[in-house]
Amino acid sequence: MDASYILRIFADMNVDVHGIIGASGQLGTEIALRLMEAGERVVLLDIKAPSYAPLQELPFEKVDVRDQGALAAGLGGHKVTHVYHLAAALSARGEQEPQWAWDLNMNGLLHVLELAASMDHIAKVFWPSSIAVFGPGSGPVAAQTGHRLPTTVYGVSKNAGEHWCAWYHQHRGVDVRSVRYPGLIGTLAPPGGGTTDYAVEVFDHLHGAAPYTCFLEAQEKLPMMHMDDAVTGALQLLAAPRAALQCAEAYNIGAMSFSPEELFAEIRRHVPEFKAVFAPDFRQAIAAGWPDAMDDAMARRDWGWAPQVGLEELVRSMMASRRDVQPLPQVS
Ligand SMILES: NC(=O)c1ccc[n+]([C@@H]2O[C@H](COP(=O)([O-])OP(=O)(O)OC[C@H]3O[C@@H](n4cnc5c(N)ncnc54)[C@H](O)[C@@H]3O)[C@@H](O)[C@H]2O)c1
Repeated sequence: MDASYILRIFADMNVDVHGIIGASGQLGTEIALRLMEAGERVVLLDIKAPSYAPLQELPFEKVDVRDQGALAAGLGGHKVTHVYHLAAALSARGEQEPQWAWDLNMNGLLHVLELAASMDHIAKVFWPSSIAVFGPGSGPVAAQTGHRLPTTVYGVSKNAGEHWCAWYHQHRGVDVRSVRYPGLIGTLAPPGGGTTDYAVEVFDHLHGAAPYTCFLEAQEKLPMMHMDDAVTGALQLLAAPRAALQCAEAYNIGAMSFSPEELFAEIRRHVPEFKAVFAPDFRQAIAAGWPDAMDDAMARRDWGWAPQVGLEELVRSMMASRRDVQPLPQVS
């Protein structure tokens, strides 16, 4: 046996391999890029190839997470050590196609957890939950262990998913970690059909002849987060010592809260001529059941959660990613 072969085996035994399921989506694109830029080994798994050009040089496996055999081959073939399971039907699309959403969200998660329990090379799983686990009765600021009565198929699946994660940790020893994300705002990939998507898509409608039509009410305040914080949070939680994690469910994490009219007012500081009209649709009823903000004291205490981006910086960063808009200079 030659020395290079032994060295290769040794390297394979020690190197983390990050497998991102749902890697071509809004969050997956951002996590993949951060890990790639950090020099980590990354494998992309999705039913569609990545559209963001820099990711096209990474290994890609076309895998449907509902097919456990194909998923096992994809994760096993690359000896994935860290699984990020991000493939899901989001809140708004889930209400339109409930059977599909339940199948994807529940069976996808169960396949990942089952494989993590049986494949020795999988050390950790990250699976995001959502503010959608909350509903009427949760109050304006959702407590970590607050009342949960989700009103969407998506929220019900996330709530059940949190319980499945706790079960697999307790009974099968799977090191699965989770956060309840608020609405996520970034630029690399388009949003996938959620109730907070207006806060991303509005940035594509700043200069049109027609005003932007917002599908939520002007005063509908929701918790939101910049993608940079969302990615940092996932990586921080995965890196935390397991013994420090006292929360048996998904951690609440918050960053900022704003309504459409507050976001649009901040946008107008950069683009004074920006105009919006409000035509609430079925997504308004979903948003109305969600809290305005998250109590994330437990995440701050257990693993040092500390978001960096607020509304002003978020708008500045979204503007900076567009070539046709000149962002305002930073005011210290
Ligand atoms: N985006 C948000 O605002 C937000 C908020 C809270 C929680 N989350 C959670 O974060 C995770 C990622 O969300 P996102 O916004 O990136 O979603 P997205 O819709 O942008 O991306 C999902 C990806 O999963 C892929 N996918 C769909 N069906 C699949 C299948 N059967 N097999 C394999 N891949 C499949 C899609 O092609 C897509 O690339 C989800 O679990 C979501 O619930 C997102």
